[in-house]
Amino acid sequence: MSATARPKAPMPDQIRAMKGGTPIVSLTAYTTPMARMMDAHCDFVLVGDSVAMVQHGLDSTVQATMEMMILHGQAVARGLHSAMMVVDLPFGAYEEGPQQAFRSAARLMRETGAGAIKLEGGVHMAETIAFLTRRGVPVMAHIGLTPQAVNTLGGYKVQGRGEDARQLTADAQAVAEAGAFAVVLEKVPETLANAITAAVAIPTIGIGASAGCDGQVLVVDDMLGLFTAFRPKFVKRYAALGEAGEAAIAAYAAEVRARRFPGPEHVFADEAPS
Ligand code: KIV
Repeated sequence: MSATARPKAPMPDQIRAMKGGTPIVSLTAYTTPMARMMDAHCDFVLVGDSVAMVQHGLDSTVQATMEMMILHGQAVARGLHSAMMVVDLPFGAYEEGPQQAFRSAARLMRETGAGAIKLEGGVHMAETIAFLTRRGVPVMAHIGLTPQAVNTLGGYKVQGRGEDARQLTADAQAVAEAGAFAVVLEKVPETLANAITAAVAIPTIGIGASAGCDGQVLVVDDMLGLFTAFRPKFVKRYAALGEAGEAAIAAYAAEVRARRFPGPEHVFADEAPS
């Protein structure tokens, strides 16, 4: 199936219209099987640059590349029929200015079939967001803790406490006015997330924010218990697939060493049964 043959996928405008209604459901995905699992349950699926950490074992999302995002975007597109796909613009692919951002976004959309791109930044990205949206690129913005800026933020800290709340509110308003169809709020205090949700006309998608946001997103490897290097407070584990997988692998290894696998039901007779 081609990456773009997903006629039932909602459009960014439909996601925008969900503001204030039933909460928008989203998870990240990086592979076809994961995308298939979540297609019927999510409104949109994010091919996040978190792929660099959870699938490639890298230290931060700063190391994600265009090639990585395209490869995983293509894989996810093959597993989606009804959920919209959003792909992250990786660090270094858009910050120079609107033209660079447009070239990168157009390439991501063309080569993966993504319905929209996500980029990090508030007021300082408003000009770029306006440039992209005027040229046919639907943009989801991402403010608060912006992991691509971890080296200047000084770590993965809660954002928007105290005086910083004003700046974060201005960021949300700026991206909404620039034409973003939704905004991710990452790791911000609950009351501020609620205030921003009430203040902006576009849906807020919370991650470590508030149940009062217009939607939620989590990294799928975190909520399935597959990524165990660290666990932020905002992650709820809905399964322990990492532990279950390791137990299964240990059982297989023990059976191979004891010659209990393969069993009679897994091997072939000389003659086909008549
Ligand atoms: O890359 C990512 O996974 C994200 C989060 C919002 C989930 O940007």
